[in-house]
Amino acid sequence: MAMEYTNLGNTGLIVSRLCFGTMTFGRSQWKLGGVEQKTADLMVGAVLDNGINFFDTADIYSAGQSEEMLGKALGQKRQDVIIATKARGRVGPGHNDAGLSRRHLFDAIDKSLRRLGTDYVDLYQVHGWDALTPLEETMDALGDIVASGRVRYIGFSNYAAWQAALSIGIAERLGTARFRSAQMHYSLLCRDIEHEVVPLCLSEGIGILPWSPLSGGFLSGKYRRDAEPVAGTRIGDRGVWFPPFDRDLGFKVVEALNAIAPEIGATPSQISLAWLLRKPGVTSVIIGARSMEQLKDNLRSVDVKLDEKVFQRLEDLTAPKPLYPNWMIANQSQDRLPKN
Ligand SMILES: NC(=O)c1ccc[n+]([C@@H]2O[C@H](COP(=O)([O-])OP(=O)(O)OC[C@H]3O[C@@H](n4cnc5c(N)ncnc54)[C@H](OP(=O)(O)O)[C@@H]3O)[C@@H](O)[C@H]2O)c1
Repeated sequence: MAMEYTNLGNTGLIVSRLCFGTMTFGRSQWKLGGVEQKTADLMVGAVLDNGINFFDTADIYSAGQSEEMLGKALGQKRQDVIIATKARGRVGPGHNDAGLSRRHLFDAIDKSLRRLGTDYVDLYQVHGWDALTPLEETMDALGDIVASGRVRYIGFSNYAAWQAALSIGIAERLGTARFRSAQMHYSLLCRDIEHEVVPLCLSEGIGILPWSPLSGGFLSGKYRRDAEPVAGTRIGDRGVWFPPFDRDLGFKVVEALNAIAPEIGATPSQISLAWLLRKPGVTSVIIGARSMEQLKDNLRSVDVKLDEKVFQRLEDLTAPKPLYPNWMIANQSQDRLPKN
């Protein structure tokens, strides 16, 4: 089956339903992959051959190396693809070498463009909340960067729903660019965004871009309940379980994935990605890989269509506990549903 495409939220921008995340490119203190240029070139080639037109990176990934390597790997193909990058993380020792101030954003975008070897970024994302900068300043600066032509669309990442909602209102009041995408952690083992962020995105036409869709590789099924994570895996190399999740539930989900896999002829990774591709509001799932084998495995997730029974089994197994006031809102909404 071929790659599918969709609009990024309510914009006219058409992106593939898988986005290739390049956080594993380059060497960093985070020990996330150490992918070299030669492998990066092969990966980007395979990704393009499989119909992906959407790439995600950030200024802080391997201290800028990820952006540089992606730019090199794309070469002339840059004009055919959608590049997303991010700013907010610390890139130097100075007070203004981090955050979402006008000063830092203007610096950060120029440096990202230089590293990527392009004169515009399609989607520029704030990488997280900045408690030190007024939101008005951030939205105003982002709007000016869009107006300058260096950026086409803007998005947020790792915002609480109230922070995103506030930003949307401020952008409207200022008459400036508004957020079009939400890059958030979302996987079978972390469905927290279903409480607040997903409803906001559905209401406002914001495209959801799940990050760490395999919970850092855990959902591939390669970790064992009765053994320590081994070297050569992300969790083994780093000694950190990130993103965090309930480990007991994690192993139960992997057992379920292992049981479903032979029934439908798909791998645990493919099933986990296919589940996300069915979730409301999800525009494009950001896949990651450290090797070509992993990449090929994950690329085939678009061929896996989960039937209602399998989908519901995974839904039930990982259902988030209802939070207040959401359960009260749901109760009270029952007599506000239109009658057929
Ligand atoms: N906005 C944010 O704050 C944020 C945060 C994190 C990521 N992101 C974005 O999301 C992208 C994806 O995140 P992620 O890399 O954490 O995704 P992920 O899919 O949860 O984890 C990818 C890692 O899992 C392992 N893996 C992947 N596929 C596998 C397979 N088929 N079989 C076995 N192992 C497999 C590999 O690690 P090992 O081989 O090393 O075990 C790979 O590097 C990033 O590139 C980045 O663009 C954004």
